[in-house]
Amino acid sequence: MTKKYKNWLVERDNRDIAWLTIDKADSSTNVLSADLVNEFEKIVSDLSAAPPKGVVLKSAKTSGFIAGADVNEFTKFDSEEAALAVIQHAHKIFNEFEQLPCPTIAMIHGFCLGGGMELALACKYRVADDDPRTKLGLPEVKLGIHPGFGGSVRSIQAMGAMAAMNFMLTGRNLNTRSAKKQGLIDFAVPKRHFANAALSIINKPPVKKPLSILKRLASHKRVRPLLARIMIKKVATRAPRTHYPAPYALIDLWVQHYDDRKEMLEREAQSVSKLIITRTAQSLIRVFKLQDQLKGLGHLTGYTPRHVHVIGGGVMGGDIAAWCAYSGFIVTIQDQKKEALANVVKRAYGLYRKRLKIKRLITDAMDRLIPDPKGHGLKRADIIIEAIFEDAEVKKNLFKSIENIVKPDAVLATNTSSIPLDEINVALKNPTRLVGLHFFNPVAMMPLVEIVKSPTTDEKISSKAAVFTRKINKLPLPVTSTPGFLVNRVLMPYLMEAVVLAEEGVPLSIIDKAATDFGMPMGPVELADTVGLDICLHVAENLSKNMNIEVPEKLKAMVKNGKLGKKSGQGFYTFKNGKPVKESAEKNYTPPVDVQDRLILRFLNEATACLRDKVIETADQADAGIIFGTGFAPFRGGPFNYIEHRGTAQLTKMLEHLQQRHGPRFLADKGWQQLTDKTD
Ligand code: NAI
Repeated sequence: MTKKYKNWLVERDNRDIAWLTIDKADSSTNVLSADLVNEFEKIVSDLSAAPPKGVVLKSAKTSGFIAGADVNEFTKFDSEEAALAVIQHAHKIFNEFEQLPCPTIAMIHGFCLGGGMELALACKYRVADDDPRTKLGLPEVKLGIHPGFGGSVRSIQAMGAMAAMNFMLTGRNLNTRSAKKQGLIDFAVPKRHFANAALSIINKPPVKKPLSILKRLASHKRVRPLLARIMIKKVATRAPRTHYPAPYALIDLWVQHYDDRKEMLEREAQSVSKLIITRTAQSLIRVFKLQDQLKGLGHLTGYTPRHVHVIGGGVMGGDIAAWCAYSGFIVTIQDQKKEALANVVKRAYGLYRKRLKIKRLITDAMDRLIPDPKGHGLKRADIIIEAIFEDAEVKKNLFKSIENIVKPDAVLATNTSSIPLDEINVALKNPTRLVGLHFFNPVAMMPLVEIVKSPTTDEKISSKAAVFTRKINKLPLPVTSTPGFLVNRVLMPYLMEAVVLAEEGVPLSIIDKAATDFGMPMGPVELADTVGLDICLHVAENLSKNMNIEVPEKLKAMVKNGKLGKKSGQGFYTFKNGKPVKESAEKNYTPPVDVQDRLILRFLNEATACLRDKVIETADQADAGIIFGTGFAPFRGGPFNYIEHRGTAQLTKMLEHLQQRHGPRFLADKGWQQLTDKTD
């Protein structure tokens, strides 16, 4: 018997097994939208009325099982009650499904995240494809909530409290191997054996092993508060409670209610409905959607580059080459110095060992990275990325010398951080084919790549550059070829203000704390030291030619004296084992009241100027780019989201006061007049 729903196919075969195929209509990915859940309610009710011998849940999509709940629906709740009603409804259905008196099995391939993972957890058995692309996760904390469809209770029961809480509190995905080891899934088999695996489970349901004594002990009511303290301490290092309440709410839920399953399920629903309407959650959900928008900028079917040629194997070129080979590209890497190439290979090996772990995968990636001192790869490459010295003449000469060698349709890209493209592309017979691919340091850690376009750049070339960026799993952000592009331009006034504060004698730890209290992941002084003071000076001097930025004397002096920050072991801070030694301010020291305002308002003022200058197309793109490029407090949803809620009138008034006290660098940009408010 077969029954077709909009998003489901239910087939009950002659062995009385119900095969439930999830196939979200008009979408390449399954998400637990309201209509899909409502249909599931009907299906579960039919199954309860006439229970089959077994139920198998599987996905029709190649992308995976279920990627999560539908985040678009998360932003529509206008009250806690409205959210609670929806969550309780899902609870009712999942509970009914869990109680079916037969084996229920989730067959998982690809993405199995959030609400999808919670549905899988409501099954008695979970079988996952052993393909490395299979990813299982409960990443709700990243959206400012925690699992809300019973996942908090069920994951702890499956994995034990320590593993499950770590899984939920970090929001990190597990691959099949780790998921099996930690008890999240029961079996790992290749996808082609899914049907057989399901049949064998239904025919002879394996007895589930109870959790070990140690795992059970972790959830004992006397042990929970002790472990909770350790968890809270760990969480607090990356997510302060005032900014990110969700992980703390999850810990509290477990500590208070784990002894009573029913109660914990009910409290879970209440807790999530409270969290989901907070500004933090709404901002983080917004950031998640903006990230998707950036990903969408890199969609272009039919462009399938395979070979990347990188010229310049220094700090950036070496890491870009290593990253591209890690992402599956054939990469030839060229440098005029042999030692530079040896260094690239060594660094790449370190990266692959850390990330890929398995010997075969490391060897494959190393094989894809080919040192090429003579540049043989140039004539075969689909995309050429230049990352040599930051000197317009040197770059021009290089592009001139390679134009006749490369394939006619190869994309020519430069990683310049400050030279206008139109100063470089004049060396080319066809200047329209030059685009900027501005990576950030360290390449492996930074998710963003600015796609730099000059008025000359061909749209097709910049689209190809964006597609390539997605293929190496980075986020493309289109920006104009103006000084500093977006990310460096908004960062510099903020960093320079930190240097001025340091010059005035404000202790470094106070300056950094003012920024981390706002929600920045790292203070500006530590950031400047990490980026490298020579690089900061170079960018700041460049920007000061065109903009309202003064380069503090202190910065010039430090660079002159070889104090370059982390890389030289000494910058503003002294570095020990790669970490800054932070001395706290003297006890009776009273910092100026406006340290945080000075830092943040220079940041916001420059962001506003960038939008007015059309460095970036929309405020949404700017918010996404600035969060992913600078780490700007994600729970604030980006500078423009923050401005919108805080109010332009209030912020410009603050700028006015700062200007009176500290001078014209605080002059409000004209762009403020074009911004609108959404104050509450
Ligand atoms: P680097 O000085 O570490 O490396 C440059 C490399 O290019 C050297 O190994 C050098 O031997 C090689 N090279 C120079 N001319 C060459 C030529 N004609 N043919 C072959 N190889 C040549 O420089 P870094 O820091 O990697 O910067 C490279 C580019 O990336 C610059 O344009 C810089 O502005 C940009 N950039 C740098 C960032 C950083 O944080 N270091 C961040 C983003 C962009």
